[in-house]
Amino acid sequence: MRVLVTGGAGFIGSHVVDALLHEGHEVTVVDDLSTGRRDHLNPAARFYQASVTDFDGLAKVFANERPEFVSHHAAQKSVRDSMANPSFDALVNVVGSVNVFELSMRHGCERVVFASTSAVYSEPVDLPMNESHPARAQSGYGTSKLAAEGYLRFYGDVYGTRHVVFRYGNIYGPRQDPKGEAGVVAIFAKQKLEGQHPTIYGDGAKTRDYVFVSDVVSANLAAMESVNLSEVMNLGRGIQVTDYEIFNLVRRAVGSDIQPVYADKRPGEADRISLDAARAAEVLKWRPTVAPEEGIQRTVDYFKDAMAP
Ligand SMILES: NC(=O)c1ccc[n+]([C@@H]2O[C@H](COP(=O)([O-])OP(=O)(O)OC[C@H]3O[C@@H](n4cnc5c(N)ncnc54)[C@H](O)[C@@H]3O)[C@@H](O)[C@H]2O)c1
Repeated sequence: MRVLVTGGAGFIGSHVVDALLHEGHEVTVVDDLSTGRRDHLNPAARFYQASVTDFDGLAKVFANERPEFVSHHAAQKSVRDSMANPSFDALVNVVGSVNVFELSMRHGCERVVFASTSAVYSEPVDLPMNESHPARAQSGYGTSKLAAEGYLRFYGDVYGTRHVVFRYGNIYGPRQDPKGEAGVVAIFAKQKLEGQHPTIYGDGAKTRDYVFVSDVVSANLAAMESVNLSEVMNLGRGIQVTDYEIFNLVRRAVGSDIQPVYADKRPGEADRISLDAARAAEVLKWRPTVAPEEGIQRTVDYFKDAMAP
């Protein structure tokens, strides 16, 4: 199949690209390299350095490549930046996404997979949250992702297009950007390997639902292979892990005894998150297979290799 992956030079997108190529698909990547890296880009994929916000440029890529399937991973992903500059966040995550969905519809693509987020939910009423949990996002980022989900729903209702929305928990693994604000495993790993004292925002009790990147990739492949699917699905383990537990697991994997520094909790961040992925288990037969101890060790080993002289 001909597959277009937006954000295919980024952390999750590049792993999706590798897996698609491995399965024998033809892959085209659109990425503006704003946070993605050329060296994460699989050389077997065709690459366009372009922004999803440029409708005409994107239209040319669709016309040249005629994708049958679209995996939309390009995004402005910083919660903090979405609070500081909500217009830019909306430009990339709403307008950019609508551009991708509109062109997918015009070209008769079989399905769009959209990388959404647990940030679409409000502060939890029940945990783990399922897909019917109230979605009153508390950040610009969560709001823009929710708006893009709404557009996909509208394209499905009005034009009969098909889509899979994945609401990802906290995804971690090799190639995650350790300079970002999220990606706490990558941030802690790199800082500890450099002998720095990582900062925990809040008291360390904030929880997230961590999923290793290979598990997310297998869900993306399963979404491609399931015919006639149109679904919104959480991808999480249903388990809350605190910031302090993650700090400790990374510390153990690195083999250091460094202590954290504590700073004020940041606005726009929920206190507790865990996701019920029963829908993905039922529809895609998806099960996360990598436990945090193993995934964190693999991530730390990646950063050790990447930092070796
Ligand atoms: N990492 C997580 O824990 C997580 C959790 C929930 C959702 N997500 C979503 O998954 C997707 C991938 O996230 P990631 O963690 O791999 O981040 P990433 O920053 O590594 O990947 C995003 C990619 O999109 C590209 N990009 C950004 N703006 C673009 C634009 N205007 N046009 C074209 N390309 C653009 C970047 O250069 C980058 O390669 C994003 O949509 C993100 O919102 C990630």
